[in-house]
Amino acid sequence: MSDPKQGVYYITTPIYYVNDKPHIGHAYCTVLADVLARFHRLFGVETWFLTGVDEHGQKVQDAAAKRGMTPQQHCDDMQSHFRDLWPTLDVANDDFIRTTEPRHERVVQEALQRLWDKGEIYRGEYEGFYSPRVEKFFTEEELIDGKCPETGGDVYQIKEANYFFRMGKYQERLLQHIKDTPDFIRPESRRNEVIGFLQKPLQDLCISRPKSRLAWGIPLPFDTDFVTYVWFDALLNYCSAIGLYHDQERFDRLWPHVTHLIGKDILTTHSVYWTTMLMALELPLPRIIAHGWWLIDKTKMSKSLGNVVNPLSMKDKYGTDSLRYFLMREMVVGLDADFSETAFLKRHNYDLANDLGNLANRLVKFAERSMGGVVPEPGAGSGMPHDADLQAMALALPGRVRDLVGDLRVEQAVEATIALVRRVNRYVAETEPFKVIKTDPAAAAGAVWMALEALRFALNCLWPVMPAKCEALLVAIGAGKPEATLDALAWGGLKPGGAMVLESAPFPRFDVPEYEAAPEVAPAAVVAPAPVVVPVAVAAKPAPSDEPPARIAFPDFAKVDLRIGTVLVAEPVTGSDKLLRLQVDLGEAQPRQIVAGIGKAYAPADLVGRQIVVVANLEPRKVFGQLSNGMVLAASDDAGPAVLAPARPIPPGTKVS
Ligand code: MSP
Repeated sequence: MSDPKQGVYYITTPIYYVNDKPHIGHAYCTVLADVLARFHRLFGVETWFLTGVDEHGQKVQDAAAKRGMTPQQHCDDMQSHFRDLWPTLDVANDDFIRTTEPRHERVVQEALQRLWDKGEIYRGEYEGFYSPRVEKFFTEEELIDGKCPETGGDVYQIKEANYFFRMGKYQERLLQHIKDTPDFIRPESRRNEVIGFLQKPLQDLCISRPKSRLAWGIPLPFDTDFVTYVWFDALLNYCSAIGLYHDQERFDRLWPHVTHLIGKDILTTHSVYWTTMLMALELPLPRIIAHGWWLIDKTKMSKSLGNVVNPLSMKDKYGTDSLRYFLMREMVVGLDADFSETAFLKRHNYDLANDLGNLANRLVKFAERSMGGVVPEPGAGSGMPHDADLQAMALALPGRVRDLVGDLRVEQAVEATIALVRRVNRYVAETEPFKVIKTDPAAAAGAVWMALEALRFALNCLWPVMPAKCEALLVAIGAGKPEATLDALAWGGLKPGGAMVLESAPFPRFDVPEYEAAPEVAPAAVVAPAPVVVPVAVAAKPAPSDEPPARIAFPDFAKVDLRIGTVLVAEPVTGSDKLLRLQVDLGEAQPRQIVAGIGKAYAPADLVGRQIVVVANLEPRKVFGQLSNGMVLAASDDAGPAVLAPARPIPPGTKVS
């Protein structure tokens, strides 16, 4: 255990439903949690990392029935798909919890009993519309065209007795907590989303299901005709796994330092249901990090579209380390990202095969040829001014990585590390040890030592992302094991004489498959002549005309203020199935409200976190009774509108020109 003075970090992933096998979304969240856990260990912090599976509820009962199994048999079988996947992705979780374990069920019942005894739970009559896909109730007003507002799926009208948790009474306290605690929900955009949600009155939460309708759950301790609502049960895993009500000392040490890593779709259950449950149980409140979604061709992965990416196949084809690297480098925590094999292979080929792999390979081969296959003496370095620059950059890296990871800018921490690798490559080109060896062997040896030492810094900082490859490369360059903490990473730590051996290229190059190698998309705003860009806030496509639009002079174009925006909140406009009301971050003091006619092509949840292009200086006007202060750009074809987006994340408010 590391020095407790440096703090404690308890990180959790959602517990995954066992109704299906793991996909890339599950793999991303779990790998990110693993990377954060490994970084915190490197920062000298006592760390505990929990993941697991969610085994109760309607979805699981239905999945078991489809397979002709009992729910327990189904869970026993399915949980192994998750449990066994993690080691193959180099995920080193400290614990794995199943909600059918007695250690969990006991705690759920104990918590329910305490809340019942305190009057925090009451019996009532429920009438509403039930959506089995999300296992939630909705009022008639909340339905969209008579369907579930979250999935668009069927809902069933239900009237029954149930038990309710007095969630509504915590509304003000929760709002105050969000306002007082800036890092309660990160990133900021997600925090604003919850504040938006809490503008409406908060209802009490139905926490039971009658056994006659759903048998697969934990019985309520005070009425065994009912089982516990799956979310009320599942959320408590974070506490039951670390000892609530049975190993209080351990619980008290870890719980105040908990961070829940979740996807944006389960933000309400965590920030509202869970947080108010904890208030009622008189327990400290967590920190929440909500990440975005991996999309395929800008759309959500779904079984019906057949575009679900299986993490196992990516790992088997290209290797665990490359997959972890891609997931961490490509997604900005909080925003959506697009998964494509082409993007994956480009990253692998550029960053890993060219920059990192080649460098290690060239240095090891040179040492084998000319330096007896061992780390050379540093001497006075290369004797050139580049030495100081390289050393300064390497020395600055650990602190920079620590700051960036602390700020959840994991992709930038990875980029900063690869930037050092690129600097080492440039240093080798500048100091030319392969040539200099003929005239000044000591300077050549010094240059190689400098390059290896800087590379050692990079590999130690990249270890949380690619533990296996970084460990192998550290051995290959004669540096031995990674340092236990970044504080221990000191310049001069690379000892001369260590054996340098590399059997094969650490990252073989892969061909980018032809079928995927579509031309790069032109920058969003001006150029692309087709498809036609239409302002969808108007919700009307201009009539096709044979006449090309009249040319305009540049000053006319320059009058249009196009900006990059990030969607913070998206919700349907009541009475219209086409319009969505967006709150968009344009880098201004307040988010802008924009009404856009894209509701048939996008579910609101799909837009949150996305970046879009906005006409920012359009006269505000009312659309369907709603003020629209700007316009979202999209291109429409027969499949409907597709919003324009920058090809990589860009700070909100950036001008498009
Ligand atoms: N069982 C609940 C969580 C209970 S936590 C107390 C659940 N399970 S889930 O298996 O459906 O989803 C788990 C996580 O996977 C969510 O955080 C969700 O955001 C994430 N993802 C599902 N699809 C995803 C992508 N395409 N991309 C990234 N993450 C995604 O919800």
